Amino acid sequence: KFYLNFIKDDRWKYIVEGLGVTLQITFAAVIIGIVLGFLVAVVRATYDKTGKLKVLNWICNVYLTVFRGTPIVVQLMIIYYVIFASMDISKVVAAILAFGINSGAYVAEIIRSGIMSIDNGQFEAGRSLGFNYIQTMWHIVLPQALKNVLPALGNEFIVLLKETSVSGYIALQDLTKGGDIIRSRTYDAFMPLIAVALIYLVMVMVFSKLLEVLERRLRNSER
Ligand code: ARG
Repeated sequence: KFYLNFIKDDRWKYIVEGLGVTLQITFAAVIIGIVLGFLVAVVRATYDKTGKLKVLNWICNVYLTVFRGTPIVVQLMIIYYVIFASMDISKVVAAILAFGINSGAYVAEIIRSGIMSIDNGQFEAGRSLGFNYIQTMWHIVLPQALKNVLPALGNEFIVLLKETSVSGYIALQDLTKGGDIIRSRTYDAFMPLIAVALIYLVMVMVFSKLLEVLERRLRNSER
Protein backbone atom coordinates (compact mmCIF):
# COMPACT_ATOMS: atom_id res chain seq x y z
CA LYS A 1 0.00 0.00 0.00
CA PHE A 2 2.77 2.43 0.93
CA TYR A 3 4.62 1.74 -2.27
CA LEU A 4 1.47 2.13 -4.26
CA ASN A 5 0.91 5.54 -2.74
CA PHE A 6 4.52 6.40 -3.31
CA ILE A 7 4.20 5.53 -6.96
CA LYS A 8 1.05 7.56 -7.32
CA ASP A 9 2.02 10.65 -5.39
CA ASP A 10 5.73 11.22 -5.05
CA ARG A 11 7.44 9.73 -8.03
CA TRP A 12 7.62 12.84 -10.15
CA LYS A 13 8.54 15.02 -7.22
CA TYR A 14 11.91 13.28 -7.00
CA ILE A 15 12.54 13.69 -10.70
CA VAL A 16 11.40 17.32 -10.95
CA GLU A 17 13.10 18.50 -7.78
CA GLY A 18 16.21 16.49 -8.61
CA LEU A 19 16.34 18.06 -12.04
CA GLY A 20 16.13 21.48 -10.41
CA VAL A 21 19.07 20.67 -8.16
CA THR A 22 21.11 19.29 -11.07
CA LEU A 23 20.54 22.44 -13.14
CA GLN A 24 21.24 24.72 -10.19
CA ILE A 25 24.58 23.02 -9.46
CA THR A 26 25.57 22.95 -13.13
CA PHE A 27 24.86 26.62 -13.88
CA ALA A 28 26.44 27.93 -10.69
CA ALA A 29 29.48 25.68 -11.07
CA VAL A 30 30.03 26.61 -14.69
CA ILE A 31 30.15 30.30 -13.72
CA ILE A 32 32.67 29.66 -10.94
CA GLY A 33 34.64 27.44 -13.30
CA ILE A 34 34.84 30.03 -16.06
CA VAL A 35 35.85 32.88 -13.73
CA LEU A 36 38.45 30.74 -11.96
CA GLY A 37 39.69 29.12 -15.16
CA PHE A 38 40.00 32.47 -16.87
CA LEU A 39 42.12 33.93 -14.06
CA VAL A 40 44.37 30.88 -13.88
CA ALA A 41 44.79 30.81 -17.66
CA VAL A 42 45.82 34.47 -17.77
CA VAL A 43 48.34 33.96 -14.97
CA ARG A 44 49.84 30.94 -16.69
CA ALA A 45 49.94 32.56 -20.12
CA THR A 46 51.52 35.69 -18.66
CA TYR A 47 54.21 33.58 -17.03
CA ASP A 48 54.82 31.71 -20.29
CA LYS A 49 55.11 34.91 -22.31
CA THR A 50 56.87 37.29 -19.91
CA GLY A 51 58.33 35.21 -17.07
CA LYS A 52 56.40 37.36 -14.57
CA LEU A 53 54.03 36.10 -11.82
CA LYS A 54 56.30 33.20 -10.94
CA VAL A 55 54.83 32.45 -7.50
CA LEU A 56 51.24 32.82 -8.68
CA ASN A 57 52.03 30.55 -11.60
CA TRP A 58 53.40 27.95 -9.22
CA ILE A 59 50.21 28.09 -7.10
CA CYS A 60 48.10 27.71 -10.24
CA ASN A 61 50.13 24.69 -11.28
CA VAL A 62 49.56 23.01 -7.93
CA TYR A 63 45.83 23.70 -8.26
CA LEU A 64 45.68 22.23 -11.76
CA THR A 65 47.69 19.17 -10.78
CA VAL A 66 45.60 18.38 -7.71
CA PHE A 67 42.16 19.00 -9.21
CA ARG A 68 42.81 17.26 -12.49
CA GLY A 69 44.76 14.49 -10.83
CA THR A 70 42.09 13.23 -8.43
CA PRO A 71 38.54 12.06 -9.15
CA ILE A 72 35.83 14.70 -8.84
CA VAL A 73 33.76 12.44 -6.62
CA VAL A 74 36.62 12.21 -4.09
CA GLN A 75 37.04 16.00 -4.20
CA LEU A 76 33.31 16.42 -3.62
CA MET A 77 33.39 14.18 -0.54
CA ILE A 78 36.51 15.86 0.86
CA ILE A 79 34.97 19.31 0.44
CA TYR A 80 31.71 18.32 2.11
CA TYR A 81 32.83 15.83 4.77
CA VAL A 82 36.33 17.15 5.59
CA ILE A 83 36.75 20.81 4.75
CA PHE A 84 33.22 21.90 5.68
CA ALA A 85 32.71 19.16 8.26
CA SER A 86 32.41 21.54 11.19
CA MET A 87 30.46 24.15 9.27
CA ASP A 88 26.77 24.05 8.59
CA ILE A 89 27.01 24.42 4.86
CA SER A 90 24.27 23.17 2.57
CA LYS A 91 25.00 20.22 0.33
CA VAL A 92 24.08 22.21 -2.74
CA VAL A 93 26.68 24.86 -1.88
CA ALA A 94 29.32 22.20 -1.23
CA ALA A 95 28.54 20.61 -4.60
CA ILE A 96 28.62 23.95 -6.40
CA LEU A 97 32.05 24.68 -4.90
CA ALA A 98 33.40 21.21 -5.69
CA PHE A 99 32.19 21.16 -9.29
CA GLY A 100 33.07 24.81 -9.83
CA ILE A 101 36.63 24.48 -8.56
CA ASN A 102 37.09 21.22 -10.45
CA SER A 103 35.75 22.66 -13.68
CA GLY A 104 37.97 25.73 -13.28
CA ALA A 105 41.03 23.52 -13.64
CA TYR A 106 39.79 22.16 -16.97
CA VAL A 107 38.60 25.57 -18.17
CA ALA A 108 42.02 27.05 -17.35
CA GLU A 109 43.73 24.68 -19.72
CA ILE A 110 41.11 25.26 -22.43
CA ILE A 111 41.54 29.05 -22.26
CA ARG A 112 45.31 28.84 -21.97
CA SER A 113 45.49 26.73 -25.11
CA GLY A 114 43.34 29.38 -26.80
CA ILE A 115 45.73 32.14 -25.76
CA MET A 116 48.74 30.10 -26.86
CA SER A 117 47.18 29.49 -30.27
CA ILE A 118 47.13 33.23 -31.02
CA ASP A 119 50.14 34.15 -33.15
CA ASN A 120 52.88 36.11 -31.42
CA GLY A 121 52.51 38.68 -34.17
CA GLN A 122 49.24 39.73 -32.52
CA PHE A 123 51.14 40.57 -29.33
CA GLU A 124 53.74 42.46 -31.32
CA ALA A 125 51.04 44.30 -33.26
CA GLY A 126 49.47 45.36 -29.97
CA ARG A 127 52.74 46.58 -28.58
CA SER A 128 53.51 48.50 -31.76
CA LEU A 129 50.18 50.28 -31.36
CA GLY A 130 51.42 51.50 -28.01
CA PHE A 131 49.41 49.03 -25.90
CA ASN A 132 51.06 47.65 -22.81
CA TYR A 133 50.98 43.93 -22.02
CA ILE A 134 47.65 44.02 -20.17
CA GLN A 135 45.95 46.12 -22.86
CA THR A 136 47.27 43.87 -25.61
CA MET A 137 46.02 40.83 -23.76
CA TRP A 138 42.61 42.30 -23.03
CA HIS A 139 41.81 44.07 -26.32
CA ILE A 140 43.61 41.94 -28.90
CA VAL A 141 44.53 38.46 -27.69
CA LEU A 142 41.70 37.42 -25.35
CA PRO A 143 38.79 38.25 -27.70
CA GLN A 144 40.31 36.06 -30.39
CA ALA A 145 41.35 33.32 -27.98
CA LEU A 146 37.94 33.09 -26.31
CA LYS A 147 36.16 32.95 -29.63
CA ASN A 148 38.36 30.04 -30.70
CA VAL A 149 37.78 28.03 -27.54
CA LEU A 150 34.04 28.58 -27.36
CA PRO A 151 33.24 25.08 -28.67
CA ALA A 152 35.55 23.53 -26.07
CA LEU A 153 33.92 25.62 -23.32
CA GLY A 154 30.51 24.46 -24.48
CA ASN A 155 31.71 20.90 -24.27
CA GLU A 156 32.95 21.53 -20.73
CA PHE A 157 29.45 22.67 -19.79
CA ILE A 158 27.98 19.41 -21.09
CA VAL A 159 30.62 17.34 -19.28
CA LEU A 160 29.81 19.21 -16.09
CA LEU A 161 26.07 18.65 -16.46
CA LYS A 162 26.62 14.90 -16.62
CA GLU A 163 29.37 14.92 -14.00
CA THR A 164 27.01 16.34 -11.36
CA SER A 165 25.32 12.93 -11.37
CA VAL A 166 27.84 11.85 -8.70
CA SER A 167 26.28 14.35 -6.26
CA GLY A 168 24.47 11.46 -4.57
CA TYR A 169 27.77 10.58 -2.88
CA ILE A 170 27.10 13.37 -0.38
CA ALA A 171 23.42 12.37 -0.21
CA LEU A 172 22.42 15.32 -2.32
CA GLN A 173 19.18 14.61 -4.16
CA ASP A 174 19.98 15.54 -7.72
CA LEU A 175 18.30 14.05 -10.78
CA THR A 176 20.27 10.79 -10.65
CA LYS A 177 19.74 10.31 -6.92
CA GLY A 178 16.05 11.09 -7.37
CA GLY A 179 15.74 8.30 -9.91
CA ASP A 180 17.67 5.96 -7.65
CA ILE A 181 15.38 6.71 -4.70
CA ILE A 182 12.38 5.81 -6.83
CA ARG A 183 14.14 2.61 -7.89
CA SER A 184 14.84 1.58 -4.31
CA ARG A 185 11.34 2.31 -3.06
CA THR A 186 9.31 0.89 -5.93
CA TYR A 187 11.57 -2.06 -6.74
CA ASP A 188 11.23 -1.01 -10.35
CA ALA A 189 14.61 -0.15 -11.80
CA PHE A 190 13.67 0.22 -15.45
CA MET A 191 11.27 3.14 -15.45
CA PRO A 192 13.11 5.59 -13.16
CA LEU A 193 16.61 4.96 -14.49
CA ILE A 194 15.62 5.08 -18.15
CA ALA A 195 13.64 8.24 -17.45
CA VAL A 196 16.67 9.83 -15.80
CA ALA A 197 18.91 8.85 -18.72
CA LEU A 198 16.43 10.30 -21.22
CA ILE A 199 16.23 13.59 -19.34
CA TYR A 200 20.03 13.97 -19.40
CA LEU A 201 20.08 13.02 -23.07
CA VAL A 202 17.45 15.57 -24.03
CA MET A 203 19.24 18.30 -22.06
CA VAL A 204 22.57 17.49 -23.69
CA MET A 205 20.99 17.47 -27.14
CA VAL A 206 19.29 20.81 -26.54
CA PHE A 207 22.46 22.47 -25.23
CA SER A 208 24.55 20.99 -28.05
CA LYS A 209 22.14 22.44 -30.56
CA LEU A 210 22.25 25.87 -28.89
CA LEU A 211 26.04 25.81 -28.93
CA GLU A 212 26.06 24.82 -32.59
CA VAL A 213 23.86 27.79 -33.46
CA LEU A 214 26.03 30.14 -31.41
CA GLU A 215 29.16 28.81 -33.08
CA ARG A 216 27.72 29.27 -36.55
CA ARG A 217 26.70 32.84 -35.75
CA LEU A 218 30.19 33.67 -34.57
CA ARG A 219 31.72 32.13 -37.66
CA ASN A 220 29.39 34.06 -39.96
CA SER A 221 30.25 37.31 -38.23
CA GLU A 222 33.84 36.82 -39.34
CA ARG A 223 33.02 37.34 -42.97
N1 ARG B 1 35.27 12.16 -14.50
C1 ARG B 1 36.50 12.91 -14.35
C2 ARG B 1 36.88 12.96 -12.89
O1 ARG B 1 36.34 12.21 -12.10
C3 ARG B 1 36.33 14.25 -15.00
C4 ARG B 1 35.93 15.36 -14.09
C5 ARG B 1 35.36 16.59 -14.71
N2 ARG B 1 35.83 16.91 -16.00
C6 ARG B 1 35.66 18.10 -16.54
N3 ARG B 1 36.07 18.32 -17.75
N4 ARG B 1 35.07 19.05 -15.84
O2 ARG B 1 37.75 13.67 -12.46
